[in-house]
Amino acid sequence: DKGNHRHFMEKEIYEQPEVISHALSHYVDFAANTISPNASAIDFKAATGLAISACGTAYLAGLIGKYWFERYARLPVEIDVASEFRYREMPLQPSQAALFISQSGETADTLASLRYCKDNGLKIGAVVNVRESTIARESDAVFPIMAGPEIGVASTKAFTCQLAVLASLAIGAGRARGTISADDEKPMVRHLAEMPRIMSRVLNLIQPQMEGLSRELSKCKDVLYLGRGTSFPLAMEGALKLKEISYIHAEGYAAGELKHGPIALIDENMPVIVIAPYDRFFEKTVSNMQEVAARGGRIIFITDENGAAASKLPTMATITLPNVDEIISPMIFSLPIQLLAYHTAVFMGTDVDQPRNLAKSVTVE
Ligand code: F6R
Repeated sequence: DKGNHRHFMEKEIYEQPEVISHALSHYVDFAANTISPNASAIDFKAATGLAISACGTAYLAGLIGKYWFERYARLPVEIDVASEFRYREMPLQPSQAALFISQSGETADTLASLRYCKDNGLKIGAVVNVRESTIARESDAVFPIMAGPEIGVASTKAFTCQLAVLASLAIGAGRARGTISADDEKPMVRHLAEMPRIMSRVLNLIQPQMEGLSRELSKCKDVLYLGRGTSFPLAMEGALKLKEISYIHAEGYAAGELKHGPIALIDENMPVIVIAPYDRFFEKTVSNMQEVAARGGRIIFITDENGAAASKLPTMATITLPNVDEIISPMIFSLPIQLLAYHTAVFMGTDVDQPRNLAKSVTVE
């Protein structure tokens, strides 16, 4: 049932504040402002490293998770798309832990990667939406994302719930490993707890602007997304979302890679979507943006209030989100990315919930 919405994808985008709240209530003790024991079903304290594998959007959630586990828990992360991971014959130690991220819990390559790690003696954690799935069944610990059924083929609420769970696990791992103090944990958890409310506000705030911008995007043949730090996987997720439902060619790049190739593509016909919260990478990303502007590129700048105030560059559009803490910024910045792809596809008249050639669950290699 789509309720008041035109498509399941739209419904699922707007469900995010509610389902993230469910997800968080499983991993967070809101009264104590701490991560709950549910997040420690894997012994991250004893782990010497973490292997992560997944496909598509779930892989991009894992890539953001890598930044968090390494920064907050000082746990080295080895991550790859499952179709490569399963055949790389990478050396693994039983002292490492492994996480497999899958909405459906049935993705063939992710399952094969899981079995490879299991054969190597690693402890296996599954970050899944479907708790009765094969991947969940074959794991030592299941971390449900509690997103509820996701019908739209393009993943939206599962992605942000995966992120909310990974953020909780990384903070919990940091506590267990002593790299995050109890004093650091409290504000981080408070920011997580505030996230659903901020998401509702942002969804309402940006909807009209996203709908307007989608008319511009629908005229384009190619779109480039740029970001640094956790905004880099988000840039790839933005490109993936746009290409799979609107069929517009899009690529996501690390902002610093611009001058190593993609800058040759810049002209007035290819919009460049720059994802840049006002974080420790902001100035660097803005200088990359300057290189785009200097070559006549049209910029769609997705930033926050501090970022909008700090940059004087001319843009085709600036999407200004509220200032939020960096632990929740990937989830908040997912919203304009999802809505832009959604409205562009609607404007172009594609089959948004059932894009051509794609299946919701990929159970063959
Ligand atoms: C993109 C998308 C796919 C899935 C991928 C993995 O919007 O939905 O890229 O993320 O096929 O699927 P799961 O998470 O079921 O393993």
